[in-house]
Amino acid sequence: MKTLHFTGQALVTGRDALDWLKTLRPGRVFLVTGGGSMIRTGVLDKIEGLLPAGTQVRRFVGIGKNPTKREVEAGIAAMREFGPDTVIAVGGGSAIDAAKAMMLFYEHPELTFENVQTAPLPSERGRILFVAIPSTSGTATEVTHVCVVTYPELSYKVPIKCEAIRPAVAILDPALPMTMPAQIAAETGMDALTHALECFISTGADDFTEALAKSAAEGILDWLPASCLEGNPLAREKVHNYQSMAGMAFSNAGLGMAHGIAHAFGGKYNLGHGLCNAIILPYSMQYNARDARVRGQFDKLAKPGAPDIIDRVFALVKQLGLPVSFMGAGLAEADFLADFDFLLKNSMGGSTRVNPVAIPEEDMGKLLECIYYGRPVTF
Ligand SMILES: [Fe+2]
Repeated sequence: MKTLHFTGQALVTGRDALDWLKTLRPGRVFLVTGGGSMIRTGVLDKIEGLLPAGTQVRRFVGIGKNPTKREVEAGIAAMREFGPDTVIAVGGGSAIDAAKAMMLFYEHPELTFENVQTAPLPSERGRILFVAIPSTSGTATEVTHVCVVTYPELSYKVPIKCEAIRPAVAILDPALPMTMPAQIAAETGMDALTHALECFISTGADDFTEALAKSAAEGILDWLPASCLEGNPLAREKVHNYQSMAGMAFSNAGLGMAHGIAHAFGGKYNLGHGLCNAIILPYSMQYNARDARVRGQFDKLAKPGAPDIIDRVFALVKQLGLPVSFMGAGLAEADFLADFDFLLKNSMGGSTRVNPVAIPEEDMGKLLECIYYGRPVTF
């Protein structure tokens, strides 16, 4: 038996999807966003303008690229002072992830950063209505039950997973991804492609998640270049929808070692999650393709006249102007070598534990070298 969850209460999509906010009852809205782009582009003002008359709004601005324990704690304190009945998280994945963690700790004061990895977590949302409005197209955190918080003192990112943090309403308004700079569109899009492809080869996949993951992978491969390189509005909308589909799939079926490795590097060097995945994904595919079942899954994505799917992914990374190695991304060799044991240990944890091909630590060490120096996986 398997129970699948694809969204909270609703997914609102299509042109002017933000208008759904007009249906809210007047109340106390805690509005969480990131570094300021949602203010600069007028999105926050637009959202406040759509809320019904009489709504009181408290803005919480300033979540960074990787949400930290400190940012979340500041948010919880602000929530306690304000007492919201609705939380709206708008912006990139980090703002929505931070809001998820804030809500969990706010509604369940028995939970702390210290015990959240070991304590039983609630399986249902609390009384606060949680609305997530992504402006980037990658994490799909608007539909998932996962958030990732960085513990800077550990140089490590920790995922929190429970049904209580899945947003009740996800709003995919195609106007929002138009605010993304091309570089962010590329990095977040590669995160989404990693979700789709890791889920598609996962041993936890089923008929439902496989169909979603396959459509998402094919859609992102087709539309991401025009979305990033031309800023084409239809392409931006397509990738925005496909990334959410990838999230519906992976949050039910699981990911793989590209994410395990990405969290190790992202947590250590404060690198963007999508950038890490863009670099790691093709090498992880080369390693996993040694397994006949995985190779068979990759073959299902073959397109007549097109190169093999792994070569297509390598080519896409280059086409988007992203680095194809951590060395190429500017990570100093001295740092990589000095931190190697730490990176290796952390790369073995997280989603690597559910990678469809069990990877011994010795192989992971060789794989990290391939990914750092940009060498093909031939061992
Ligand atoms: Fe991801």
